[in-house]
Amino acid sequence: MGAPPAVRLVRSPGVYRPQSDTWLLAEAAMAAGVPPGARVLDMCTGTGALAITASMLGARDVVAIDASRRAVVSARLNAWLNGQRIRASRGSMLALPAASSFDVVLANPPYVPCPAGTVTKGRRRAWNAGPDGRALLDPICRSMPVLLRRKGFLLMVHSTLSDVGKSLRRLREGGLTAEVVSRGTIPFGPVLRSRTEFLERAGLIEPGQRHEDLLVIRADRP
Ligand SMILES: C[S@@+](CC[C@H](N)C(=O)[O-])C[C@H]1O[C@@H](n2cnc3c(N)ncnc32)[C@H](O)[C@@H]1O
Repeated sequence: MGAPPAVRLVRSPGVYRPQSDTWLLAEAAMAAGVPPGARVLDMCTGTGALAITASMLGARDVVAIDASRRAVVSARLNAWLNGQRIRASRGSMLALPAASSFDVVLANPPYVPCPAGTVTKGRRRAWNAGPDGRALLDPICRSMPVLLRRKGFLLMVHSTLSDVGKSLRRLREGGLTAEVVSRGTIPFGPVLRSRTEFLERAGLIEPGQRHEDLLVIRADRP
């Protein structure tokens, strides 16, 4: 899981640093390909790494949104640095206009389980996603039948800590086909190391487990 060499990225303080999950999704997007002229949505864009990758892969129109103003500034700057055109704006993926429709949706949302009441503002908004890690995963799954055009597809990063089976079921209930297309294992970083007790108590990891599996779900609208 390494960075695609061609993308040059800078980021404002507090913006999510692209890492294993970013590159796992970028690789899945490169493997899937972006249909020529496609309209692409990058839901939680951060530095814009995935939006820029989609543009490099041939997308005609790339919409990138993020709840963080600093992320949007970084994404615009990075698009310029890489000679790509994307439309980055601040907004929540929880409030996307119902009429939007896309050929490809890319999502690396916050998915890390955290104890109830944990701060989810500022830079922590990039990973904290409620006690089951599904604060954004459920709305994303629900929105796909509307956001995807026919024959469109979603590529979404997931951790095995936040119930992959539930996402697959939700997507299928929405009339999509859904499967895991790639995966990788990484050691716990500082965030997960700081909450192993919570994760063990919640039954989300085995006692002593200090690694997580990341994977990419692909869902197609037939
Ligand atoms: C895990 S980071 C991924 C960033 C980037 N896509 C990447 O792969 O490197 C998640 C991003 O989601 C953004 N975010 C959190 N809640 C959001 C929401 N409700 N709507 C849009 N973006 C959100 C965060 O600001 C953060 O930039």
